[in-house]
Amino acid sequence: MIADLPSLPFAERRARVLAAMPERSAAVFPSLPVAPRNGDVEYPYRQHSDVLWLTGFKEPETVVLLRKGLDGPSFVMFVRRRDPEMEVWTGRRAGVDGARERFGAEAAHEVGDVRSHLGGYLREATALYVAFGRTGWFGPVLDEALEGLRRAKRQSWHGPMALLDPGPLLHELRLRKTPDEVAVMRRAADITAEAHRQAMEAVRPGMGEYEVQALVEYTFRRRGADGWGYPTIVGAGDNACILHYVENDDRIEEGELVLVDAGAEVSGYTADITRTFPAGRRFDPGQRDLYDAVLDVQKRLVDLARPGMDLTRLQDTAIRWLTERMVDLRLLRGDVDGLVESKAFRRFYPHGVSHFLGMDVHDVGASVLEGRPRPLEAGMVITVEPGLYVPPDAPKVPKRLRGIGVRIEDDVLLTAGDPEVLTTAAPKEVADVEALRRSGLKKYGRSPAA
Ligand code: GLY
Ligand code: MN
Ligand code: MN
Repeated sequence: MIADLPSLPFAERRARVLAAMPERSAAVFPSLPVAPRNGDVEYPYRQHSDVLWLTGFKEPETVVLLRKGLDGPSFVMFVRRRDPEMEVWTGRRAGVDGARERFGAEAAHEVGDVRSHLGGYLREATALYVAFGRTGWFGPVLDEALEGLRRAKRQSWHGPMALLDPGPLLHELRLRKTPDEVAVMRRAADITAEAHRQAMEAVRPGMGEYEVQALVEYTFRRRGADGWGYPTIVGAGDNACILHYVENDDRIEEGELVLVDAGAEVSGYTADITRTFPAGRRFDPGQRDLYDAVLDVQKRLVDLARPGMDLTRLQDTAIRWLTERMVDLRLLRGDVDGLVESKAFRRFYPHGVSHFLGMDVHDVGASVLEGRPRPLEAGMVITVEPGLYVPPDAPKVPKRLRGIGVRIEDDVLLTAGDPEVLTTAAPKEVADVEALRRSGLKKYGRSPAA
């Protein structure tokens, strides 16, 4: 229940959205459907981030309606009805009373009645914000309401004539984090950094990748996070070269590096940290060369995360700097300009270096506006995550670099001054990583738990 209590300034957020909407308009935000897993089992439910941002309401089968310049309520919720029998099985529901009393809805209805109420609420609106093309289960409901209005319109010309995507309006607000959001993101970052530290300390050769996953996620929950914001990646050895490796079912061998990409979600906001460290006491020379290259590039990129920079330029810079290091390491041969031009670097660095971070791990907000890269601003949070990945069978590369993947990822808050790295508590300097590995092996011993 505690986690259900609204603690962020949702009313203020809705007021900001309403302020940006034109007179006589409405906006609808449906929840995502529950996803079946197998038989009678469902995947754990996660509210749509737009609905969560606007209300803090976590239940499925919800529609949020905002109305401006129209008679009647400006904030309406459609929610599941209270059902004592079902609640015994699937948990407490706020119901229409809870929606009003705890979540501030001026009017609330049972979601089963959405068909009969929606048309009425939209009748006088001239424009409607809805994420058309992505309405899912709500699409047919909305179609029916609009069709009903169009039919009536022949007599009275009622109903919205323009559909607008709410993205540019709402996602612009979600993109720039307010101090209360930054506070929550700091907490997600702190918990995530602790989880990475603990994993880094506790790894022993012979452990399963899944044990490291369990340790990381244990810390997330122990510290009160909702859980993870995206599936945890633990890749030992050449599994680190698979970018979204989530099987985590291999054994960690002596002499391998372990790549952990994991982020805790707190009040709907996720962190996103990657660390790469040796299963033994130290990096071997090949691992160290690759790690030093990525770390050096990562630190220099973090320093560029300032207002005025943009994600395209950050990626172009990452590509150039990483390609220079690929040439130094004899992964590639040729001149850097040509290797960048021909995209030869993609063999060892195939992903982006940064994304916005917030309620979605790859958060909303346009990185390109009207065809131009958008300058970053203070208050935005981005990741900085260069990597180098050398597949085990890569031809014509030094043998000692084969089968090694390294990524280092921090979460960075842009400020008017220096960038603020929210995730510094997760060690990344070689001396700090190796010190933690040494003390961990001493503390836990070298062999895995039975
Ligand atoms: N963990 C997903 C990403 O780093 O983008
Ligand atoms: Mn990331
Ligand atoms: Mn990541």
